[in-house]
Amino acid sequence: MNELDALVDSARQGFEQAATPADLENAKAVFLGKSGRITELMKGLASLSIDEKKARGAVINQAKQAIEAALNARRQALADAELDAQLKAEALDVSLPGRQAGQGGLHPVSLTLERIEGIFGSMGFDVAQGPEIESDWFNFTALNTPEDHPARSMHDTFYVEGGSDKAPNLLRTHTSPMQIRHAVQHVNRHRALLDAGETMPEIRVIAPGRTYRVDSDATHSPMFHQCEGLWIGANVSFKDLKVVFTDFCRTFFESDDLVLRFRPSFFPFTEPSAEIDIQFQSGPLAGRWLEVAGSGQVHPNVVRNMGLDPEKYIGFAFGMGPDRLTMLRYGVNDLRLFFDGDIRFLSQFQ
Ligand code: DAH
Repeated sequence: MNELDALVDSARQGFEQAATPADLENAKAVFLGKSGRITELMKGLASLSIDEKKARGAVINQAKQAIEAALNARRQALADAELDAQLKAEALDVSLPGRQAGQGGLHPVSLTLERIEGIFGSMGFDVAQGPEIESDWFNFTALNTPEDHPARSMHDTFYVEGGSDKAPNLLRTHTSPMQIRHAVQHVNRHRALLDAGETMPEIRVIAPGRTYRVDSDATHSPMFHQCEGLWIGANVSFKDLKVVFTDFCRTFFESDDLVLRFRPSFFPFTEPSAEIDIQFQSGPLAGRWLEVAGSGQVHPNVVRNMGLDPEKYIGFAFGMGPDRLTMLRYGVNDLRLFFDGDIRFLSQFQ
């Protein structure tokens, strides 16, 4: 093998060994650079005669072209390899399931509230909404719970700045203030009838919503839900409460195999008052009395604060805990699970 063939060979080997484009450029400099081997050989032509120059020059040029061809081939090979590696690294597994937008769903307590509204709606009850930041008047005083009343101590809550009807200052401890708010609106709407000494249409309403107390354990959350019920008319009795609430419970739990107990109790805004307990006759909860609501005949002072004459209007109220109803319906024993926002828990109710 002559000297030039050997040079081309060693260039090929050098290029083959270059693992990256930068290595390749370095290898190129050795042969084709300004002071590379080919350039050196060209310089050597200067001392030759014209004929020798032609012959020798042509051979060197051939070698140069061969080296350039090897260089280009290696460049292409490295570029192909790089593209291959990149494609591999960015490979898409087209068999993976797509990432779909998740199907949202209602919170279990919202499902319960919808059920409650549906059932009472079918019995002719309206649904009222009211503010969660309340005034002392609506939350306590109008409900026959004056400032020094001991029942207030069971309703410790969160206070904000303010402290008048125009600047409410506490997070409502129950939905009972909605009794007053709704009744006053109703009375105002029927003012003309009342002034004419006629009987106004009955008040029949439920008021579901968020309520707050300084309480936190497995069965109490500082934010919880209540649903108030109110039925006021000229001739509404405790018997109606029993019928309505029994019907509600049996429909809600989809069971006629369920008994109710009205247990004497005390609330400042009702007289007489009763806790409502239910008992399933079959199933996992059978035999236990479970408290689901407070209730009673609306106290005359409260009827008065609604703007009505307690000699002419009478009725009942109840307040129940939709969170507890949800726990009973689904067999959940820790209330906090509902408000932790864990999608694995919540998605089970869809
Ligand atoms: N507001 C009461 C509470 O939060 C529950 C209650 C009891 C509401 C009796 C009523 C009622 O309307 O008549 O403990």
